[in-house]
Amino acid sequence: MEASLLASKFTDIYGHQPSALSTAPGRVNLIGEFTDYNLGYVLPCALNFTTQVMFKPTSDNTITVYSLNYPGEHDRFAAKDDIVEGPSQWGNYVRAVAYVLRRRGYELAGVELLITSDVPQGAGLSSSAALEVSIAGAFNHAFNLGISAQDIALIGQQAENEFMHCQCGIMDQLISAKGEPGSALKIDCRDLSTESVAIPDDLSLVIVNSNYPRKLVESEYNQRRLDCENAADKLGVETLRDATLERLNAVKAALTDNEYKRAHHVITENERVVNTMQALRDNDMSALRKLLTASHVSLRDNFEVTVPATDGLVEIIGGALGERGAVRMTGGGFGGAVICLCREQDIADVKAAVDAQYEAKFGLKADIFVCQAGTGLSVQTLT
Ligand code: GLA
Repeated sequence: MEASLLASKFTDIYGHQPSALSTAPGRVNLIGEFTDYNLGYVLPCALNFTTQVMFKPTSDNTITVYSLNYPGEHDRFAAKDDIVEGPSQWGNYVRAVAYVLRRRGYELAGVELLITSDVPQGAGLSSSAALEVSIAGAFNHAFNLGISAQDIALIGQQAENEFMHCQCGIMDQLISAKGEPGSALKIDCRDLSTESVAIPDDLSLVIVNSNYPRKLVESEYNQRRLDCENAADKLGVETLRDATLERLNAVKAALTDNEYKRAHHVITENERVVNTMQALRDNDMSALRKLLTASHVSLRDNFEVTVPATDGLVEIIGGALGERGAVRMTGGGFGGAVICLCREQDIADVKAAVDAQYEAKFGLKADIFVCQAGTGLSVQTLT
């Protein structure tokens, strides 16, 4: 939304102008799924869908927040009291970030906030990370906390882990904090170092949201993480990042079927990230197609996080594009979106195939977004 429009809405609510604007993007992951909490590699890019937070510090102790996405609702809590869950789910993300900042010893005070977001929710495009990072960016600026972009990401992840009960990894928050326009970022989730990989100019990022109603996502997500940790224990490594297929096959008898499959996915997915970086540098569609297809199959059969609707979208789009495109599910799974890499002139074929087949097969309407790799967190003082 235009900053001036959001500022005038802030003024309507609070009776005076905001002082600054914090903006953080959602993300799409090109490849490297469920590798982050195994301290492996991921290759996401920030999107041009963003969450914006207009704000102004106040002289009292109250944090007040409104959201244009939830008209008529607001949340309010005391910055210096114990921070506990509040009445609204979206407000709890704000509380979660405040809670973590307090736990890390930062002093908070009063601030008025107004949020708006065009990151699609429930699509696996990290609307929650965009919210956490934009809010952390706002608090950082409002109270002069001097926190780095990397630490803002870690604070967002801790907010998920300790307040929102989701044992997620670092990918979503880190790309939201540090994304670069026109590039994907390879993140090494062990040391958090990043390497930018330019997305070729003639490669389009097409995201197709299945709109499948996601269920049990948190418990299944957390269970996968436990499976991975148990597999790592039995392999005698600190995390699956350090495992190899040889070692996995050598100790196969000691692992449950699920532990074996989860570990197999993570080990092979890490290799696919490295190979995808090269395929992007070479702008090699055939290699991209093979790598994204292998990732999807592994997520479907070994990590078991796809649903018929996302498998169906991959089949429909893959069938329509053949050698001209690469497609796989993206994000946390159990629904959400698929990512398709193709040339601009082929986007019409993706749309036509999805329109002709998806609703007929699955009784759901898909949303199709053609995206650009956007910028990470930015905070600007308004004059
Ligand atoms: C969610 C989590 C991430 C990551 C992905 C799967 O988006 O928030 O940390 O684990 O799922 O790659």
